[in-house]
Amino acid sequence: MNAERPIAVFDSGLGGLTVAAAIRTMLPQEHIIFLADRARVPYASLSPALIARFALECLEFLLEFQPKVVVIACNTVSAVALELIEKKTAVPVMGVIQPTARAAAASTKSGRIGVLATTSTVKRKAYDLEFAELLPTAQVFSNGCPLLVPLVEEGWTEGEIPQRIVEHYAEPVLREKIDTLVLGCTHYEYFRDHFQRVFGAHVHLVNTPLVTANELCRRLELFPASSGTPKAGLTQIFSTDVNDALIRVVDGLFFAAGFTHTVIEPAQVPRLPEAARAALSA
Ligand code: DGL
Repeated sequence: MNAERPIAVFDSGLGGLTVAAAIRTMLPQEHIIFLADRARVPYASLSPALIARFALECLEFLLEFQPKVVVIACNTVSAVALELIEKKTAVPVMGVIQPTARAAAASTKSGRIGVLATTSTVKRKAYDLEFAELLPTAQVFSNGCPLLVPLVEEGWTEGEIPQRIVEHYAEPVLREKIDTLVLGCTHYEYFRDHFQRVFGAHVHLVNTPLVTANELCRRLELFPASSGTPKAGLTQIFSTDVNDALIRVVDGLFFAAGFTHTVIEPAQVPRLPEAARAALSA
């Protein structure tokens, strides 16, 4: 029964695709449903109540596919609404903050950890709270980077201007002589090389997509693998607004990587689109 059910992944926009791609690589036989709520990105500039409402609407959309697990591939939603989402469904739910914080705590030697995240995640002290439990001696240095999500959604991640913006946001954390850096927003994965260059090779950048996919594999040991089912290996990417940047990102992360069973489909959230109904009854 579980073998037939997809893995559902969602984010406000294109950032979560990096997590979906890592899951795709690690679990090639699984059916993955991804939802990007591009029409309403960025979430971080909204009130926590509105972020929670939008996240629940995304959840509702994904639950129609009867997933075996829901992965919140968004730090902002994980920080604001993970517990609420867990209460709304019997399906196991996982966020990105816990696996990322665990990996950072395991990696640091000096206990000086940097967190670059959306202002919403920084304000809620989501990572500070995790580190207080995991590594109470840790010193956490955070900065919000509000321009980075819109840059990714515009498809503008390369060149001098994005690099200068990355340097600007990195600067207060760079001064603190950290040895481990959390990119606490899945969109920032697209600036990974810029951040690594700014901080230097001696600073470990936690790989959120990888550690989240690893954690999912650990949890999925509870379930049989989906190999042999009709939708095995299929990635369905739904987006509330499909634009060129989405297509380019999917080309780079999925098609160029050789994942041929990938389709992009428009989504209406909260209304369930016909495509989802058809997929359910197929
Ligand atoms: N990828 C989301 C995150 O990890 C972006 C949040 C936003 O939409 O502002 O936080």
